[in-house]
Amino acid sequence: MVEIREIAEEASGRLERVGAHSHIRGLGVDDNLMAKPVADGMVGQTRARKAAHLVVKMAREGKLSGKGVLLAGPPGTGKTAIAVGIAKELGEDVPFIVLSGSEIYSAERRKTDVLMEAIRKAIGVRFREIRKVYEGEVASLDVRYEPHPFNPYYQVPGGAKLTLETTDESKKLEVGRGVATQMVELGVKEGDVIQIDAETGKVVKLGRSKEAKTSFEIETEKVVPKPDGKVIKEREFIYTLTLYELDEMFARRSGGGIASLLFGPSTGREISSEIRAAVDSQVSEWVKEGKVKILPGVLFIDDVHMMDIEALSFLARAMEGELVPIIVMATNRGITNIRGTDVRAPFGLPLDLLDRLVIITTQKYSKDEIREILKIRSKEERIELEEDAYNLLTEIGERTSLRHAVQLLSMAGVRARSLSKERVCRDDVEEVDKLFSDVKEAMEHLKNYEKDLLS
Ligand SMILES: Nc1ncnc2c1ncn2[C@@H]1O[C@H](COP(=O)(O)OP(=O)(O)OP(=O)(O)O)[C@@H](O)[C@H]1O
Ligand SMILES: [Mg+2]
Repeated sequence: MVEIREIAEEASGRLERVGAHSHIRGLGVDDNLMAKPVADGMVGQTRARKAAHLVVKMAREGKLSGKGVLLAGPPGTGKTAIAVGIAKELGEDVPFIVLSGSEIYSAERRKTDVLMEAIRKAIGVRFREIRKVYEGEVASLDVRYEPHPFNPYYQVPGGAKLTLETTDESKKLEVGRGVATQMVELGVKEGDVIQIDAETGKVVKLGRSKEAKTSFEIETEKVVPKPDGKVIKEREFIYTLTLYELDEMFARRSGGGIASLLFGPSTGREISSEIRAAVDSQVSEWVKEGKVKILPGVLFIDDVHMMDIEALSFLARAMEGELVPIIVMATNRGITNIRGTDVRAPFGLPLDLLDRLVIITTQKYSKDEIREILKIRSKEERIELEEDAYNLLTEIGERTSLRHAVQLLSMAGVRARSLSKERVCRDDVEEVDKLFSDVKEAMEHLKNYEKDLLS
């Protein structure tokens, strides 16, 4: 039987919204806290990058949970880019969740629930487990088949005899239907190195043994050394689940075993606060017993000014809690209304929230920096530009915003390509610049024609 499992949305890629930032590989700050002018796809903005690097360090050490960071600066000054850099630096096992301020508004769900879920997705719980396993190279394998209980014409594995070998030992094992079935499904053959969990019988194929006689087929499998020591041994397993995943497991506890808990489909329904409370108390018990370690990740809220007073107050309160991630926010607003109120406040954020934040500001780029970033982007998008085109794009970037210039770069690339030109020249940039307005220009337009537009 083939099991087909759908991958939940969040598992498929945590940086999905960052096409424009694909050139960012990290923060470009070394261990001595020096930010090189150009490194990891990052250009300039060294102060903010250094600060972000410290955030990463503290996050890794779990020292920043419950604190908030605000990236504040004019549009197109690299706030989102820096957040992407933070994610890259944190590495795969530290959760990094992206939420855009406007994402909390949904017809089906409460704002606070969307926020709560994001917070819990951004907290990892690292399990460390010692398990007894049989491990070795399969020296012989003899699967016994028997008729299917419901369909006698159909043969299924009924059990197997196998020999597992390490460099020091050889052991004959007899396994039941469950283990045999897994081995057939995994395509285990002589010469493979496998692991069988002594308690649950779960089979894991580790790879092809280095010592195994090679067959004639082209080997695409990983080659691993033949294990040493005893066939039965204790192994340490480390895996990280998020609080959100634990919530889901808990909610579904009534049905199925551990596998269905782990891999069952996402239900999409709201998880009650009772469930969250139960998970929290279970986790803190595990922490006390030394079974798990909390790994606070990062929740990045882009365009945080899109959130209204209700959501922002919730966020401020949530930051007081015990299990919270590092919350990094970004905004390009100055003094403006807090959404949902008439109150004006710096960044449109209520003071009780602002009080809890450390602020990293981003500055406008110099001409040279804009040029350098455009160069990196053009490489990333495989667009070749003539010197003249670079100059003009840089000028446009200076005059409007970097973001606009980066967008024009792609469009000029498309234009040149559709005219079958190998390189983008000045008139491609001129042309797309004429066709598309930046925000400022569009606003001017609106002002001029206000009376003619519908309102
Ligand atoms: N220091 C930098 N080094 C390299 N690329 C950068 C840098 N700063 C910005 N960029 C790139 O320039 C473009 C615009 O920057 P970004 O979107 O990060 O700005 P922002 O501050 O988030 O703007 P907004 O306020 O409009 O959201 C992106 O493609 C980004 O990757
Ligand atoms: Mg941004």
